Amino acid sequence: MSSQIDHLLNESRQFPPSPEFVAQSIDDPALYERAAADREGFWADQSRELLHWHKPFTEVLDWTNPPFAKWFGDGELNVAYNCLDRHVEAGIGDRVAIHWEGEPGDSRSITYAELTDEVKRTANVLADLGVGQGDRVAIYLPMIPEAVISMLAVARLGAIHSVVFGGFSADSLRSRIDDAGAKVVITADGGYRKGRVSALKPAVDQSLADRNGEGEQQTVEHVLVVKRGGNDVEWTEGRDIWWHDVVPAASAEHEAQAFGSENPLFILYTSGTTGKPKGILHTSGGYLTQAAYTHKYVFDLHPETDVYWCTADIGWITGHSYVTYGPLANGATQLMYEGTPDAPHPGRWWELIQKYGVTILYTAPTAIRSFMKIGRQVPNQFDLSTLRLLGSVGEPINPEAWMWYREVIGGGQAPIVDTWWQTETGGIMVSPLPGITAAKPGSAQVPLPGISIDVVDEQGNEVESGNGGLLAITKPWPAMLRGVWGDPERFKETYWEKFEEQGFYFAGDGARLDEDGDLWLLGRVDDVMNVSGHRLSTAEIESSLVAHEATAEAAVVGASDETTGQAVVAFVILKESFLAEHTPEGLATQLRTWVGEQIGPIARPRDVYIVGELPKTRSGKIMRRLLRDVAEGREVGDTTTLADTAVMSIISAQVK
Ligand code: PRX
Repeated sequence: MSSQIDHLLNESRQFPPSPEFVAQSIDDPALYERAAADREGFWADQSRELLHWHKPFTEVLDWTNPPFAKWFGDGELNVAYNCLDRHVEAGIGDRVAIHWEGEPGDSRSITYAELTDEVKRTANVLADLGVGQGDRVAIYLPMIPEAVISMLAVARLGAIHSVVFGGFSADSLRSRIDDAGAKVVITADGGYRKGRVSALKPAVDQSLADRNGEGEQQTVEHVLVVKRGGNDVEWTEGRDIWWHDVVPAASAEHEAQAFGSENPLFILYTSGTTGKPKGILHTSGGYLTQAAYTHKYVFDLHPETDVYWCTADIGWITGHSYVTYGPLANGATQLMYEGTPDAPHPGRWWELIQKYGVTILYTAPTAIRSFMKIGRQVPNQFDLSTLRLLGSVGEPINPEAWMWYREVIGGGQAPIVDTWWQTETGGIMVSPLPGITAAKPGSAQVPLPGISIDVVDEQGNEVESGNGGLLAITKPWPAMLRGVWGDPERFKETYWEKFEEQGFYFAGDGARLDEDGDLWLLGRVDDVMNVSGHRLSTAEIESSLVAHEATAEAAVVGASDETTGQAVVAFVILKESFLAEHTPEGLATQLRTWVGEQIGPIARPRDVYIVGELPKTRSGKIMRRLLRDVAEGREVGDTTTLADTAVMSIISAQVK
């Protein structure tokens, strides 16, 4: 990462939007002025303008009990109604909401009217299964329309969804189902990935089996199964129900009931600095306001003509806010794609952009870097001239990738919006507005109108421009997380204790402001890694490694990687007894596979080094900084605080 950061800090090019782009853009400098003059009034206006409130709110923000915020607290709305029914009532029911393309090439275009019907039927089915306000429903699905339909059906009932990324293992699914106490799980037999069917149902079966342990309650009553892969599945009578047996037969009449603005909408688990993922809780009115507002202005949305495509999976926050809630609240037409970018050929994404005439593309730097590696000859075979705006999310985008994205994909014209935000922030916080901001490659640039952000030192004091510091959010924002599910203490400790005096939110990211006041993100400052734009915790992977019978001790670091941004690198001390019977190489391979099975393939270490010792301070703390030096092939830094200063030369020799 450090050489990338050097590049970042020397970057000075600027790309203002073209006069043609500015002329058609909805972005208006008045947004900044209005928000600066009256922040809460600004958010209230946005909310009234962008959403339908069954019962209008009279209060905007209640911050009397920080860090527990209430936004639009006395208002009532139905989130699904806002994404569906009201568009049909407004006469745009015939507009396509989702052009869906399966990996094998099958496709469906679903209008707002059809999507509304499907969601109503599904809501009726879930209600029959006993799902009501406040109940939790786990969703473990591939990228098929039923994923969006399920989320909205749960939301329609005032219940809470917990979407679990389909790439997570049975164990990860199990801990998420248990933590949330889910009543129903929605899954599929399997979905298409990399040219073949990847099964999902077996992981659900496994996650619900063998519940005899202490504190293990079986909260799940039913499993609703979409048939997608056509693969054989085991069946538990009475518990499992085929989607196609019940949803098409259900009534398409369902009146959306209004719920309080602070009614919980979803829980989404994300990695923190400890081994246990935390369930980030989001609620309704504030979240939907910011999702709709950011989707509209950051993507300069023209819902009548744009075809928008966010490539994120719904298992991540980007899929929640910018596949499901933002675009649908705004009545946008979007593309949804089931599979991997390279199946069945490396030009699949570009073929889809050509086929559907995609105008706005929102993706991650890691994807751009892998396309760069393959070369421009692939995208050059397709007509990408409809693209007028590009977005980036998930990690800092290096200027080289930024320029390639603009030149090769955006035809040298399309503005790029580099959007900084987090699972916890719920919506985009820092980003250029494409019709206004002169873009700088590698910088996320400016807080959006209505968002207050500062770069501060460890004590919470503003740092001078040019100096590095910590990113702090200095005022509450509508889509802010409302807590960590079941753990208010962890919520306070993780995000609010650091700057308690100032009442700032601590994001865990390093940042720097340049002399123009533009923000440069410098990566995580805690033990969280960012691999291909996905957050992974060093502690979680370490505890998975030590759970293997061969491991005595393990330390994990995120090392810079050309394609994935960071990669997981593990240093493992093995038990003597295992070393006697196995080769270190064999065990390293076993451990990689083990982590993949325990957590999910994204957590599988790129490298596992078998070492004799780990660098520790006199108080026994592992010095990961030094291991990172080794993993990145750098000279090892200051070792004076180590209990045994010789240990690093031994490790370096072993790694070589
Ligand atoms: O470190 C930042 C990085 O991703 C983290 C949030 O991860 P997650 O909750 O999984 O959400 C990812 C998608 C919103 C942040 O703390 N990050 C995200 N976007 C950017 C970024 N770092 C730099 N630039 C970005 N645009």
